[in-house]
This record gives sequence, structure tokens and C-alpha cells, in this order.
Amino acid sequence: MTSSTIEAPGTQTSDASPASRRAHGGTLVQRWAEAGEIVSMPARWRGAARLRLAPHQLSDAVLIANGAFSPLTGFLGERDYASVVEDMRLDTGVLWPIPVTLTVQDETAAALGDGIVILEGPEGETVGWMEVTERYRIDPLREAGRVYGTEDAAHPGVARLLRSGTLNLAGPIRLLRDAIPAPYPGYPSEPMESRAIFAERGWRTVVGFQTRNPIHRAHEYIQKCALEMVDGLFLHPLVGETRAEDIPADVRMRCYEALLDNYYPAGRTVMGVYPAAMRYAGPREAIFHALARKNYGCTHFIVGRDHAGVGSYYGTYAAQEIFHDIPAADLGIVPLFFDNTFWCRTCGHMASEKTCPHPKDRHVSLSGTQVRQKLSAGEDLPSEFSRREIAEILGRHYRGAAAAS
Ligand code: ADX
Repeated sequence: MTSSTIEAPGTQTSDASPASRRAHGGTLVQRWAEAGEIVSMPARWRGAARLRLAPHQLSDAVLIANGAFSPLTGFLGERDYASVVEDMRLDTGVLWPIPVTLTVQDETAAALGDGIVILEGPEGETVGWMEVTERYRIDPLREAGRVYGTEDAAHPGVARLLRSGTLNLAGPIRLLRDAIPAPYPGYPSEPMESRAIFAERGWRTVVGFQTRNPIHRAHEYIQKCALEMVDGLFLHPLVGETRAEDIPADVRMRCYEALLDNYYPAGRTVMGVYPAAMRYAGPREAIFHALARKNYGCTHFIVGRDHAGVGSYYGTYAAQEIFHDIPAADLGIVPLFFDNTFWCRTCGHMASEKTCPHPKDRHVSLSGTQVRQKLSAGEDLPSEFSRREIAEILGRHYRGAAAAS
């Protein structure tokens, strides 16, 4: 099977046009099946084994196919896997912090031969195929310790790893684009789309914003501080699988929609969606998020406090510190770091630990857990923390959830 890539020449400088800006590893990968292959599919696939992907595995496959995970063309083989787990590099030396693997139970693997395996979505629909070129055993606890920094089964990323099995299937994939509906029609979800939009807008520099939580004032503040420095802002909420207690993507999208028209400059803001699952891997996931946004065409990427963190597994700024040891050329996207930000009652505006001289009791700041607790108890969110429009949408969501249970 040949690898299908789109050559993306040019350099990773702000002079390169956004559409041709160098993807991570050199080329923007496309693993969508072509029309001719679709026509010849049934004959080729007669008798091939079928593998049902879990939602997070399908997310990974889609991000490989659409180029967000460039330079990957399939699920990682053993040499890449070992190198990523131990050294955050692919076997070629390209920076890659998170193993993107297809881990299965032994019984599942036993039912599959080598060669072509048809990939099914969660409902059993055909979404593409994989050429299984390798199978190898992994040590999930080793992966947990290296990638997540903990072996604690209470960590949601580690929990998923520990229940997934110990056998990885590897090999290149192809997906059928028509079988993968756009997650939020009207919002770009593929790197080719966002790159084209940035090019059309004439933006030379674009800052990407990853988020899995409803927008609050601290988010808006750091987004706009970053926008002061670049041409455009790419709001890029993650819409794949998250923990059950996180607020669902459609509610978060409604929150953004409620603010975009009134508070964001239309000529300088694009909202897309990032169809990835959260791993909650903190520091390593911050690099992973940055590299994916580089592939979407961003030149800069926001990393605030406890990026991609969960509970108290990572230090407040661990996801920033990990960038300090990575050569800028290996990263190819500029991280913009923000200290913990909040509303300060004395300043009378948003500020951060870096810019505000006042004591903590003047600061209005809530953790994700505190937000969920307040909303579950039917309480309002303070307007210094969350704009009224957002507090109302979240309040309605929680009242609806309470009524349904
Ligand atoms: S994350 O899992 O996607 O990182 P979240 O949606 O809460 O969670 O955060 C999105 C981005 O905003 C991350 O870069 C995070 O570090 C940053 N961030 C969130 N809240 C704050 C805050 N109060 N101060 C500074 N940065 C923040």
C-alpha cells in the first residue's frame, strides 16, 4: 500500500503561506481512500476480518487520515512505539510525545489475520481499512508511567490504557471520507480546511487554542492577549471523547456560539473543531496538542495553567516546563505560555499571577470541579468568572441533566 501524502514545501517561518506551511515531519499526510479504491473495495474485502473501533480509536484514525497527526500514516509499529514511550520521538527522530496505537484484547487479535482488516465505526459501519503489518506486546504500566507520569488506575487516561489489553496492531490505514460525517457542519475539522481559510484571510501568523471546557473569562483573556501578538485566532475546541463528568462538546459549542458574534472580531477569529479524544496526559499532551495545531496551519499555540491536566497529577506549570528542553526547530510552532489568570476585584479586570500585585482573596477563580459543583447545586457562576450568556447555557444544561436523572 502506498502512502498518500500531499507535498507541503516551504519553511516553518511566518513567511510561508499558511496553505503550504510545512507540516510536522515535512508533509501533510492524507489517508483518505480515493474514488477508484472505493469502487474496487467490495472485491478486495470479501472475506477480510472486521475490527470494531472504540470511539477514541476512531478519533485517532480520523486524525491520521485527515493529516492532523502528520507524519503518521497509520497506528504505530513497535520501533516507533518504544521510541515514543521512552524518548518522545518517532524512530526517525521526529518529535512525537504520545503513542497513537491500536491496542486490542488477545481474543480480538486472534480473530483477525494479518493483511487487510476492515475498520468499523462504533455502530458497525465500515469506515476504512488497515493493513496489519505488525503485532506486538506492550507493558501498559510502563507506558502509563512514561507517558502519563503515573501508574494510578484512577487517572482517566491510565484507566483506559489498563483496560484496553496488551497487544498492539500496527500498520497503515485508509479511511472512507464519506463514512465520517463532519462533526459540526460549518466548522472546519481538517487541516486542509483550516489552512485554506487562513490563506484566504491572508494571515501570516495564527494562534491555536485547545480546549475541553466551557469558555470562561480566563480563556477569553488569554486568547485575546495572544491575538494581540498575531494575525488570527483559531479557536479549536476538542470534540472527541472526554470524561463523563466533563461538559459535552455540543454544550461547549453553544457556549462559543453565544459569544462569537458579540465579543470576538469576526475578521480575526476562526472557530474549528478538533475531533480528538482527550488523554489527560498533561505535559506530553500539551506538546501533542501543539504539533496537531501546527498541522492545522497554526504558527503559535497557547499553553496556560495545567494544560490537559486532570486532578492533581501534574504541577500547575508542568505542561509549560516540558517545552523548555525541546529545540524550537523540532517543535516548529511557538508555544505562548500564560500564568494562572483570574478576575481581580482590586484591579477591576482580568490579570494573572504575573501581572497582579493584590492578595489572593481579591481574586475570583474557580476550578473545573468547583464549577461543576456549583452548577450541580443549582448555583449561579459569578459574572467575574463566566460571562452571563455562558452561565445561563451551563445552568440550563445542568438543570436539564438533573431533571432527566
Ligand atoms: S484543557 O484540558 O483543554 O487544557 P481547558 O479547556 O480548561 O482544558 O484549557 C484550555 C487552555 O486554557 C489550556 O491551555 C489551559 O492551560 C488554559 N487555561 C484554562 N484556564 C486557565 C486559567 N485560569 N489561567 C490560565 N490558563 C488557563
